[in-house]
Amino acid sequence: METPKKEIVLSGIRSTGNLHLGNYYGALRKFVSIQNDYDCNFFIADLHALTTNPDPTQLHASVKSVLAEYLAAGINPEKATIFIQSDIPEIPQMYLLLNMHVGIGELMRTASFKDKARKALGLKTPENDTDENFEHEIIGAETNKRVNAGLLTYPTLMAVDILIQKATKVPVGKDQLQHLELTRRFARRFNSFYGVDLFPEPTDFDFGGAPVKVPGLDGSGKMGKSEGNCLYLIDDPKVLRKKVMRATTDEGPQAPNSPMSEPVANLFTLLELTSTPDVVKHFRDAYADCSIRYGDLKKQLAEDIVAVTNPIRERINDILANEDYLRRVVRDGAERARARASETLSEMRQIMGIHSL
Ligand code: TRP
Repeated sequence: METPKKEIVLSGIRSTGNLHLGNYYGALRKFVSIQNDYDCNFFIADLHALTTNPDPTQLHASVKSVLAEYLAAGINPEKATIFIQSDIPEIPQMYLLLNMHVGIGELMRTASFKDKARKALGLKTPENDTDENFEHEIIGAETNKRVNAGLLTYPTLMAVDILIQKATKVPVGKDQLQHLELTRRFARRFNSFYGVDLFPEPTDFDFGGAPVKVPGLDGSGKMGKSEGNCLYLIDDPKVLRKKVMRATTDEGPQAPNSPMSEPVANLFTLLELTSTPDVVKHFRDAYADCSIRYGDLKKQLAEDIVAVTNPIRERINDILANEDYLRRVVRDGAERARARASETLSEMRQIMGIHSL
């Protein structure tokens, strides 16, 4: 009997800096958990990173560090295909072709574009955020500040990443679901325009249970590179301890069984991710009977975080020192990813009527 083909999974992380605990619990650890059972493809989205015009030296360093962080977290290049987006020239080629079927209106209405465009122009979201207002902000932008076209077509590029591999399962966070919805729309549109069945419609990978939300240390919101509230996998124990000891708290519970403020609830969320159930219970009980001392909670949390990240940090540093290994991993990965990409691209060109005379 033929062994059934594994479903194709694909996900990527932009190379815009070091990965943090949010990336670890929200992405890396999940990637590792499925690499035996699916045809997994994990890549470094350096072309997407270009949309925010990074410093070239930093961009290059980030590609390398994200690669080392993937490997250190346990993604196994023997099981999963690991590659760098810009190593696949078929991606920008297909990006041009797919853009012919993407509307500028639908791109302009994408939430992430509105956010990033306003950020680029130094504008806040107005009270009454209509499409007309937004269009005026973009078209009327001063010439020394601009919204680059790559930012507008970000969803096309992401759809290409997915469709060029014909991936059907895409693990992403909530903020990327709209991009995935657009990917399905573009796939459907292409198929029906040409009367073909080329692209499958990808869906979010369902890991079951509630999504992991990793909060930052500044009291509110999730851990994020742009929020400046991150615990990085590469941080050494001294730095981690300092960051945790400085985390925002409150004046402490004033009465038994009082509700928790967001900053304190966030510390408990982090403790739940990194510690054992009995430690969590100990501090929950102490909160409930008002005997808790946040200093003790933070000390415990810092040690539990260090226990998680320390072995990862050591592996990152070992891997970064082994340039030959890194090069081998991405060369093999690119070879595998290109095989499928070039097949899809040539099918697409045929369908669109582009073939040699
Ligand atoms: N846009 C994604 C993010 O910022 C990264 C990404 C690029 C991606 N291409 C992708 C994720 C394809 C999944 C599939 O998180």
